[in-house]
Amino acid sequence: MAVRLNSQIAKVVLMVALLLVSLQGFVWHRLLQSHHDQGHEHPMLAGARGLSSRRETIIGSQEDVRENNNNQQQQQSRNRLPDERRLHRRRQPSIEKQKLSLNIHPPKVATARTVSPYLKHPLFEGKERLLTILHEAHFFNDSAAEFFQDDARVEALAKQLPSWETVTNRLGGESPVIEGLETCETYQKLVPPIDRFLGVAGLFATGTNLLASLLVANCQNDERIRAGLGAGVRWQVNWGKHSPARYRMENKIDQKLKNEIFLPVVSIRHPYSWMQSLCRQRYSTHWFHNAKEHCPNLVPNDIDRKWFKFVQKYGKRGVKSLYNDPWLSDNLLDTANFTLDSEVVPVRVRYKSGTLYHDSLPDMYNSWYHEYLDADFPRLVVRLEDLVFHAKEVVTKVCTCMGGSVRDDFNYITETAKVGDEHIHGKQEDRTNMIKTFTKWHAENRTKNMTSEDVAYAKESLDADLLKMFQYSHPSKENP
Ligand SMILES: *[C@@H]1O[C@H](CO)[C@@H](O)[C@H](O)[C@H]1NC(C)=O
Ligand SMILES: *[C@@H]1O[C@H](CO)[C@@H](O)[C@H](O)[C@H]1NC(C)=O
Ligand SMILES: *[C@@H]1O[C@H](CO)[C@@H](O)[C@H](O)[C@H]1NC(C)=O
Ligand SMILES: *[C@@H]1O[C@H](CO)[C@@H](O)[C@H](O)[C@H]1NC(C)=O
Repeated sequence: MAVRLNSQIAKVVLMVALLLVSLQGFVWHRLLQSHHDQGHEHPMLAGARGLSSRRETIIGSQEDVRENNNNQQQQQSRNRLPDERRLHRRRQPSIEKQKLSLNIHPPKVATARTVSPYLKHPLFEGKERLLTILHEAHFFNDSAAEFFQDDARVEALAKQLPSWETVTNRLGGESPVIEGLETCETYQKLVPPIDRFLGVAGLFATGTNLLASLLVANCQNDERIRAGLGAGVRWQVNWGKHSPARYRMENKIDQKLKNEIFLPVVSIRHPYSWMQSLCRQRYSTHWFHNAKEHCPNLVPNDIDRKWFKFVQKYGKRGVKSLYNDPWLSDNLLDTANFTLDSEVVPVRVRYKSGTLYHDSLPDMYNSWYHEYLDADFPRLVVRLEDLVFHAKEVVTKVCTCMGGSVRDDFNYITETAKVGDEHIHGKQEDRTNMIKTFTKWHAENRTKNMTSEDVAYAKESLDADLLKMFQYSHPSKENP
């Protein structure tokens, strides 16, 4: 046991040394607030959607365009959509100021060392890594010693935390997966330092807001900062974060910037978990389904056919009289090429630059990610899951890829935390919610409400190479 513990500790210390990151300002945020979504949202994403809420992308083409075009419709979307440009503008000055000063001053607390004695606590055997992350997130209010004097609290915490092994079983391995690091050199050759931008991209519900928050809070292009031009980190790529790669040259959010200067950082999420999430909030993805009765529905069954007939018979009024919720109604009223003969539920997705049709949700997933993976321009693809359990490593590698630097004082800041004031370490509530994520994340039933036919279809249709590349495996009995 001693040997194992030592190697665990050595691993942690080594990681820290390698990253040259001092572990101080780790702020967990609203991403982990689950009240936002009435308890339906996956803990990892709850709040990562930021200002978005379940109702924001309600039905219909107008909303869809807005979802994909939020930068041009600020007025209407002010209270409804995650208007990232507005957020960015509001926050950027203080963050940049903060970064400049933080990079000059030495870190205030050497946190990794302070928790190390407690890593040997028998109740935390196999949970050392999570304990370390919690500590970095200032869960112990910088006084682990005090906390560890209270046996009852220590016991309760130990009970709540899963083992690192449980976590890595779900993650598919010990290390984060970052695809595309081999394209960094090309990017740096193509784009002069002063012009370099990181921009976030990703399919709906894959953690693009979380990724953007982490990058904005921790990474900067020093050349641009020195020239007074900003940090060179954007909430989305200039062609729109959800836009498929084929539209890279077709849309410009910031007219002054060339789209080619962006290094896209693309987020991906376990496809089954992604489908579960789309059942809670589908954004501008349309497919015929009743979210309350069968979702994800890949292979239509009697429930789907029953509803299709219902819609044919009773129409809009019938549906609306049953479901006053425009979301639920729209998922039925917009049949999106579904018919009684459909063997698979087809999908239509509206993007700003065009509408795409897919055979199914897995087909949409394969196709969206393949466009980025097969692209002939430099890009990185990172996993949402790693943004929770390997945030520092992922952010550091991504930032280095552009030639940028990561702040000394790694920070998980997002919308709620204001840089430079007392919230620098995140709200207490956020830190408590982090425990909820740690406790719940690995226990999600990723095939919830799927029939065996749905699961069989997902297994045969999800691209095996894509899954392998990101170490995602199909849910199993042992790992549901
Ligand atoms: C940290 O401080 C807050 C506010 O004083 C308190 O509610 C919380 O329980 C403390 N956390 C720990 C782990 O002691
Ligand atoms: C679905 O319907 C639209 C318009 O009705 C059509 O343009 C499109 O080709 C159809 N897609 C498929 C896959 O059948
Ligand atoms: C997950 O959900 C499926 C479908 O709803 C159900 O059959 C299965 O028993 C659940 N698995 C676990 C481990 O709860
Ligand atoms: C999905 O959920 C609905 C409502 O909870 C339930 O009626 C239905 O049987 C579920 N289907 C499966 C396959 O779990």
